[in-house]
Amino acid sequence: MTPRTGLVLIGAAGLALATVVILRPQDVPDRGEASAMVEVTVPELAGLATEGARAYDAFCASCHGENAAGREGIGPPLVHVIYETGHHADGAFVLAATRGVRQHHWTFGDMPPVPEASLQDVAAIIAYVRTLQRANGIF
Ligand code: HEC
Repeated sequence: MTPRTGLVLIGAAGLALATVVILRPQDVPDRGEASAMVEVTVPELAGLATEGARAYDAFCASCHGENAAGREGIGPPLVHVIYETGHHADGAFVLAATRGVRQHHWTFGDMPPVPEASLQDVAAIIAYVRTLQRANGIF
């Protein structure tokens, strides 16, 4: 190897290293900290809605966000005019949980079924989400 090719090789290695360092994906968002999509005023909860909040946190919040405010890049807010009773009646929630949802209103992909949530859980979740919706002017 001539001194010149040696230098070229060292230069190439340096460049490769620099590229790796520069192109390392540092801006990939942490899915655990995805931000809310809407502002939600949380009302006082009572009865079935209180139960629903617990079930919601266990089965739905990972995608639909804390207080159903959505999660940027992961899932839509349920406190949203799209999900008012006139457009998505309670039956839509039961179907969503039992059969899943094909992507159609948003670009988050499909919602898989949530078999861990019982019908009783879903009924309570509906009471909770409707309470949140009403407190935020969505009827
Ligand atoms: C793995 C992520 C994920 C989980 C967990 C999840 N959802 Fe969803 N859900 C979605 C996405 C994404 C959509 C939007 C689909 C679209 O319209 O593009 C959606 C849509 C919905 C809809 C609208 C259905 C329709 O007919 O348009 C309802 C209602 C719903 N979810 C309720 C729930 C409930 C209740 C739970 C908990 C039991 C839950 N989701 C858990 C991702 C999720």
